[in-house]
Amino acid sequence: MTLDASTAIALTGAGLRFGPAAAPVMALSDLTLTLAERRIGIVGRNGSGKSSLLRLMAGLVAPTSGTVRVAGLDPARDRKAMLAELGILFQNPDHQILFPTVGEELAFGLRQMGRSEAEAKAAVRALLAAEGRSHWETAATHTLSGGQRHYLCLLAILLMAPRTILLDEPFAGLDLPTQVRLSRRLAALPQRLITITHDPAAVAACDRVIWLEAGRVRADGPATATLSAFTAEMARLGEQDADTALPR
Ligand SMILES: Nc1ncnc2c1ncn2[C@@H]1O[C@H](COP(=O)(O)OP(=O)(O)OP(=O)(O)O)[C@@H](O)[C@H]1O
Ligand SMILES: [Mg+2]
Repeated sequence: MTLDASTAIALTGAGLRFGPAAAPVMALSDLTLTLAERRIGIVGRNGSGKSSLLRLMAGLVAPTSGTVRVAGLDPARDRKAMLAELGILFQNPDHQILFPTVGEELAFGLRQMGRSEAEAKAAVRALLAAEGRSHWETAATHTLSGGQRHYLCLLAILLMAPRTILLDEPFAGLDLPTQVRLSRRLAALPQRLITITHDPAAVAACDRVIWLEAGRVRADGPATATLSAFTAEMARLGEQDADTALPR
């Protein structure tokens, strides 16, 4: 799998505004970034624009200013090409799962990519067998636990083998053994991974970490540099909150 600059995600002066022009909410402002590294982390406080950035990169929303390109293509327009370029693991698997059975859910992406029903079915069977989960094929998706549904969503992405996988809080709500298994699985992937998280430890091994604040880049660089500045600032803000909450 090639992950050179030609496959990068490039934002140029990208902004995302919600609400009317008279009273705008700027979720993202003037972002210029080229994301080419194999492991990229994105951190930031609640409401700092992380999920908005993911939605922008995935083409689920178009920027209200500037441009977004994925491997040179506009992700909001070229939906078909994006199937091979980008996979998204949403924080909540219930926003992702569409079908009543695991087999149908897994086959859907491949059918979208133009594979025949027989090809898709064979690929689904092979993957489930490799995962030791052949019995899942006919299982009803709603009978899986939250962690299992999360895993199903990851399997669906892996089947489509996109070049880049966007992960929005991939570990939230998972028990510790499942987190360990998932992080081992993710670490072994050849793909580019862009991970959004509140947990600095989850992105400590990344090639690059970006800290978003109020829709802008506050820091961008090696994981150690960005994360030490980020954790120091979060600790400082936490102290402030604790002080103001104390009764006098
Ligand atoms: N559909 C929307 N309509 C209006 N404002 C929105 C919408 N989506 C996001 N926003 C605003 O954009 C800003 C960034 O939101 P976003 O969801 O990207 O934050 P986040 O960093 O993912 O936060 P969290 O850590 O809580 O998931 C927030 O101020 C939010 O209120
Ligand atoms: Mg979010």
